Amino acid sequence: MTDDDHTPREVATAADARDDADASAAGRGTVTDGGTDTAAGADDVELDPWGSATVDDYRTLFEEFGIEEFDDVLPDVPHPHYLMRRGVVFGHREYDAVAEAMANDDPFAALSGFMPTGDPHIGHKLVFDELIWHQRQGGDAFGLIADLEAHSARGLSWDEIDEHARSYVLSLIALGFDPEEGTVYRQSDNREVQDLAFELGSKANFSELQALYGFDGETNVSHMQSTITQMADILYPQLVGGPKPTVVPVGPDQDPHLRLSRDLSERMRFFKVTEAFASFELTDDERHLVRAAYDALAAAGDGAADADGGTEMGTAREDPVRCADAADWLETYDPTPDLTDATGPAIEKLRAAGKEPLRPRVRFLDRNATDEAFEDLIGRIEGDKRVFEEHIDAFDLTHEAAETLAREVELDHDGFGFRQPSSIYHRFMSGLTGGKMSSSIPASHISLLDDPEDGYDKVKAATTGGRSTAEEQRELGGKPDECPVYELYAYLLANDDDDLARTVYEECEDGDRLCGGCKEQAAELMREFLADHQEKREEAAELLEGMDIDFESDRRGTGGEH
Ligand code: TRP
Ligand code: SF4
Repeated sequence: MTDDDHTPREVATAADARDDADASAAGRGTVTDGGTDTAAGADDVELDPWGSATVDDYRTLFEEFGIEEFDDVLPDVPHPHYLMRRGVVFGHREYDAVAEAMANDDPFAALSGFMPTGDPHIGHKLVFDELIWHQRQGGDAFGLIADLEAHSARGLSWDEIDEHARSYVLSLIALGFDPEEGTVYRQSDNREVQDLAFELGSKANFSELQALYGFDGETNVSHMQSTITQMADILYPQLVGGPKPTVVPVGPDQDPHLRLSRDLSERMRFFKVTEAFASFELTDDERHLVRAAYDALAAAGDGAADADGGTEMGTAREDPVRCADAADWLETYDPTPDLTDATGPAIEKLRAAGKEPLRPRVRFLDRNATDEAFEDLIGRIEGDKRVFEEHIDAFDLTHEAAETLAREVELDHDGFGFRQPSSIYHRFMSGLTGGKMSSSIPASHISLLDDPEDGYDKVKAATTGGRSTAEEQRELGGKPDECPVYELYAYLLANDDDDLARTVYEECEDGDRLCGGCKEQAAELMREFLADHQEKREEAAELLEGMDIDFESDRRGTGGEH
C-alpha cells in the first residue's frame, strides 16, 4: 500500500474472511456531515446477529424493517451527541419516548450488551460512548457482558470469556462510564435476568425464533436460550426500576432482537388498551373507517359529540348515530387506497349490529390479567363502563388515562407493566484497508488495546478516498464520503469538535487537503487517543476492585459448541 499524497483509491476487495459479528464490520454505507447515505447496491439486506455484520443499503432498513430515520427525531433531542449530529446514529425505533423523558427530566434508561469474544475495538467505542452519554443526560445506564451468548453462540471457553469480559468493562469505565451510578453485570451472574428470561420464554415459540434468526433443527438449545436472555437484558432496567422508556444503542444487525423484545414486552401485559365504537371488535383499518363515519355523522348533527369524539354527560343526543347509519355512510365513501380492503368487512360488521348506537370508548382487553387484577380494574374505572367476559369498555376515559390505569393495576398485581423498549442504530465503520472492518483482519481495525504506535501506523497505512496524484486531488478534490480516514475523524478523532470534522470534510472536497498530511494528523490523534485511553484503563482497574462483578467465574464446562 502506498502512503503519500497520491495514494490510489483502492477498491474494496478485502477477503471475505468469516467475520466476527461483534466486529463493527462495514458495509459501503458512508456518512457525510449531513448524514446523507450514499450507499448504493444490494437490495438484499439480511439482519443476522451472528452472521457477518454488513449492511449494503441502509434505505432497506427503513423500508423493509420499519426502522425510522434518526434525523426525524434529532430536533427533539436535548444537546445531541456528536455521533447523532454527524449522522453516525442513523436510525431508531421509538426514540421519541426517550427524548421526551430526557427533556422533561423523567426517568429513562439506556442499556447495551457486549459479547466478550475478543479485544474491545473502536466499533465498541461507539456503543460505550452512547451509553455514557445517556448516563450523563440523567439516564439509568446498564452495560452487560453477554457471556452466556459468547459461550453458546460462539463457543468461547469460560477462561477466554473471563479475560475479555474484564477488558470490556475497563474500557467502558475508562471512557467515562460511572459504575457507581450505573450498573455493570454479567448475564451468567444475574439471577433476576435469568428468571425474567424464563418468564419471557413462555411467550415466544420456536417458529418465531426460526423466522427471526434462521434457527433450525441443528441450533443448540443454549443458543436459543441466549436469545431469550437478551430479551431479559433489554427489559431488565424496567424490572429493577419500574416501567420507563429504555434505549438500546446497537448496530442494525441487532434489530431482530429489538423487534422481538418489543413484541414480548407487549405480550406480557395484563391488558391491551384499544379504541372501540360498539360491542364488536375492529381491526385498525376498520377502526379508521368507522371513526370517519362516526365523525361525519356526529358532526352532521344527529349526535352530540365533543371535540375528541366522545360523548359528554349532560349533552345526551336524542338521536344517536347507529351502526346501520355508519354502514350506509361507508357505502358511498371513497377511502384512501390502504383502507379500501377494510371497507367491505367494516360495513358487514356495522350491518350485523344494526340499531346498536355507535359510541366511542376505550376498551381494556384481558390479555394475561389475573382474576383479581381484572376485578380491581373494574372497580377503578371511573365513569360509565360496561363489563364483558374478556374485556371492559370505559366511556369516560381518554386513551392515555386508560393506559396509565392499566399499567397501575398491572403493577399492583405483580405484573411487570413493561413499556416497549426503544433503540438507536449506528453505522458500521469501514475497514482501514477498505471493505469491511473485521476483527479477523488486524490491519482493518483498531483495537482499544493496540500499542499507540501500531495505531499510528495503521492509520498511516489506511486506504483513502484520495485521487491518484496530488495534482488531481487539488483539481477535483478528494472523496471524503468514501474515505475510511474521514470516518475516523467523524466517528472518533474529532470528538466533540464539529469544526474539525467539518474542516476536514470541506478541505478534502475542495482539494485543499492532501491525503499524506491528513493521515499524519489523524495518525497522531489516534496515537494520542490510544495512549490516553490505556492510561485511563489503568486507573479504571483500581475502580474495578471495588465493584461487585466477578471476573473469575469458576464455571466448569466445555470449550463450547463451535
Ligand atoms: N447480542 C449482542 C451482541 O451480539 C450482545 C447483547 C446481549 C446485547 N444482550 C444485549 C446487546 C442486550 C444489546 C442489548 O453483541
Ligand atoms: Fe485524503 Fe483526508 Fe480526504 Fe481522506 S479525508 S481523501 S485522507 S484528504
